[in-house]
Amino acid sequence: MKVLVIGGGGREHAMAWKISQSPRVDRVFVAPGNVGTFFDAENIAINPLDFPKVIQFAKENKVELVAVGPEQPLCAGIVDALRSEGLRVFGPSKAAAQLEGSKIFCKNTLKAGLIPTADFATFTDADAAMDYLRNRDDLPVVVKADGLAAGKGVYVCKNREEALQAVQEMSVDMKFGQAGTKLVIEEKLDGQEASVLAITDGKTILTLPPCQDHKAAWDGDKGPNTGGMGAYCPAPLVDEKMLHWIEENILVRTVHVMNRQECPFSGVLYAGLMIGRQGVKVLEYNTRFGDPECQPLLMRLKTDLVDIMEATIDRKLDKLGTVEWDPRPTVGVVMASDGYPGKSEYGFPISGLDEVAKMPDVKVFHSGTQVNDKGEIVNAGGRVLTVTAFGDSIALAKKNAYEAVRKIRWERAWCRHDIADKAIAMEIGSN
Ligand code: AMP
Ligand code: GLY
Repeated sequence: MKVLVIGGGGREHAMAWKISQSPRVDRVFVAPGNVGTFFDAENIAINPLDFPKVIQFAKENKVELVAVGPEQPLCAGIVDALRSEGLRVFGPSKAAAQLEGSKIFCKNTLKAGLIPTADFATFTDADAAMDYLRNRDDLPVVVKADGLAAGKGVYVCKNREEALQAVQEMSVDMKFGQAGTKLVIEEKLDGQEASVLAITDGKTILTLPPCQDHKAAWDGDKGPNTGGMGAYCPAPLVDEKMLHWIEENILVRTVHVMNRQECPFSGVLYAGLMIGRQGVKVLEYNTRFGDPECQPLLMRLKTDLVDIMEATIDRKLDKLGTVEWDPRPTVGVVMASDGYPGKSEYGFPISGLDEVAKMPDVKVFHSGTQVNDKGEIVNAGGRVLTVTAFGDSIALAKKNAYEAVRKIRWERAWCRHDIADKAIAMEIGSN
């Protein structure tokens, strides 16, 4: 069969790479893809938001499964648009993707399901938000733009002044465009974050092994927020007992409330969690695989991803049987361009990829890469590669990933050096 993956980041490279391993698949197309998917699949130059073009391509090429990676096309309704043309698509409908596309919708859904989350208030104008901040205790709060802002629309504020400034930037200066017209202001939670992803058909929930991302730019979780600088799987912070609790008290309830709200959820339900003294609370929902979590996660998946996606579309996840995972943990380190998450310079040739391709148990997933007119692979985005490796322990997976990272070079490339250290500290502690 032929499969079309929508998107062009590290997540979509991992999805296309895994899907291409299915014995049932002859061709995998990626729209628009990147250099990694050029080698592991076939790129097609179509913008994911150009639905008529996507539909035309899928029909002309007899695509039997479309798998959507990023949130923008999901929130814009790609699944509804393609389904209405008779295509089979893995991902949530536009209505269900609001769980990610609107933080107000997400918080109200959590509240309706009695699902643990930070206390919050919602605002539809800046004046009301500022009045609220002036009239409450000067506690740390988190100000969030309601709409999609590429992970940047969340400000954790130490005091009232910072919070007022956040409201000013989001709702008055409109730093994130329309995304900031409405706001959520919520209690700041403390603890460690984990990502628990599940695949659901709206009836059955397949909870995947927990992961941990590293959202801050620099070592020790310092510096500005990014799209994610590295991830590993599984995350020992979420042990089996806790995972079961999360499934029962968070995932099941969410799927149930979504059904009750008449926007049944189908696809990847990704709970961003804070685990601390207050217990486990939901920070946010995403409605797709995480990037970079997807890379270490899918590297461990042994069951055919196409079977899982088709069972989800057909609402037959209950018939899928046991999903198998490689028992070895994986660690993925993001290599970024100088300046990321701010402005970066692009076009520097990347060396070492051929050498790393020969390393066993290592896979390099591409995000911001391009081929220049000399045929060299160059950096072309903030996050450039996710260098992902297996190991017999998390510590060994980290060692293997960084061994590969050291072989890859371009001018002013950088990465965090402490990916998975929190888990390694727990591994050592438990021995
Ligand atoms: P979100 O997009 O809602 O996940 O927020 C992005 C990041 O902001 C999270 O990964 C957390 O690091 C941080 N964050 C969001 N909400 C809170 C909160 N209530 N308390 C503390 N940190 C938060
Ligand atoms: N890794 C965070 C995200 O995908 O939103």
